[in-house]
Amino acid sequence: MRYWSLHFQHQRSLFIEQKMCSSPLIRKVIIIGAGGHLGPHLVSAFDTDPHFQVSILSRASSDCSRFPSHIPSYCVGENYDTSESELVELLRGQDAIISAIAAQAVQQQKTIINAALKAGVKYFVPSEFGHDTRNEQLAQLLPPFLVTQKRQIVEYLQSKEVEGLKWTAFVTGPFFEIAVPHFLGFDFRSRHATILDGHENHHWSTTTLSTTALAVKNALLEPIKATNTYLFIESFNVSQNGILSALGRLTGRWDESYQNAEEEKRRALEELSQGNFSGLPTLMRYVTCVEGCGGDYMNYEASANGLLSLPEERLESALQKLLE
Ligand SMILES: NC(=O)c1ccc[n+]([C@@H]2O[C@H](COP(=O)([O-])OP(=O)(O)OC[C@H]3O[C@@H](n4cnc5c(N)ncnc54)[C@H](OP(=O)(O)O)[C@@H]3O)[C@@H](O)[C@H]2O)c1
Repeated sequence: MRYWSLHFQHQRSLFIEQKMCSSPLIRKVIIIGAGGHLGPHLVSAFDTDPHFQVSILSRASSDCSRFPSHIPSYCVGENYDTSESELVELLRGQDAIISAIAAQAVQQQKTIINAALKAGVKYFVPSEFGHDTRNEQLAQLLPPFLVTQKRQIVEYLQSKEVEGLKWTAFVTGPFFEIAVPHFLGFDFRSRHATILDGHENHHWSTTTLSTTALAVKNALLEPIKATNTYLFIESFNVSQNGILSALGRLTGRWDESYQNAEEEKRRALEELSQGNFSGLPTLMRYVTCVEGCGGDYMNYEASANGLLSLPEERLESALQKLLE
């Protein structure tokens, strides 16, 4: 009799545990950087899922009329640090903070993380959303705000795990819609492709803005699957030649010319060392298309596409949208 009583107690606690694990834990999310390139996609992904209650945190100087009027938005000081107690009160009651803060402001996330801990917020998604910032070669080439400072924020989050804070960082590669027409060497107007010689068939990952937002939303629907880790996602695993061929199939003949990758890198680094950021797109192209800088992260990391139920996307359809 005692055995059955214990057995049923055990089964019941297992059942409750399972329910707790499978029941979604995060409902109230607040988005930072909602008006930027990525932010509106995040707002839309969470806003259209009735499971979530979304709000927005922005700086007082920001134009809040950009945000959908039915979404509550709260303003703070310029660097998020005017009054910590005010920030804590604004964050209190939130389950998760999603940061799509501008790259040049990533260090300000520390202020927000500190306030989040005081407010009892359990989950933080840092403004990572790009290359694999753990890659040393990448850190040597790109400015600190794009790599080292982002990595330091993840390290800071790791140091706060003992206080109960959970995090997920998303590695997406370059955003497809921004990268292809703006810095990967494809000039849509003149139908001219500039290819880094010798690297034309090297494959790397790129993700669309909407798929990035969907990945964050789906990760938060079942946070138990994906906490305290980097998640590696992609819309396409493609090469320079792969994009060129697809563009050719869609629009007819493209001209192409070739550049020496090392020479381009040297020139861009020289410009950067003189405070001239116009070489940055060249470096972004280099770290994406040339082996060794982590652009091909799916070669050494598991894809989280399946875990996050991301859709299959077709390269030609995505390019067609850009052409339109
Ligand atoms: N993988 C890629 O190809 C790629 C491309 C672009 C960006 N990203 C990454 O995605 C994340 C979001 O980038 P994004 O381009 O969407 O951001 P963004 O448009 O540059 O800025 C997003 C928001 O950050 C807030 N912000 C806070 N401090 C700021 C400051 N000092 N200057 C400017 N804005 C500030 C602003 O929101 P409020 O005015 O509401 O405060 C702004 O709307 C970053 O981590 C970035 O590195 C990746």
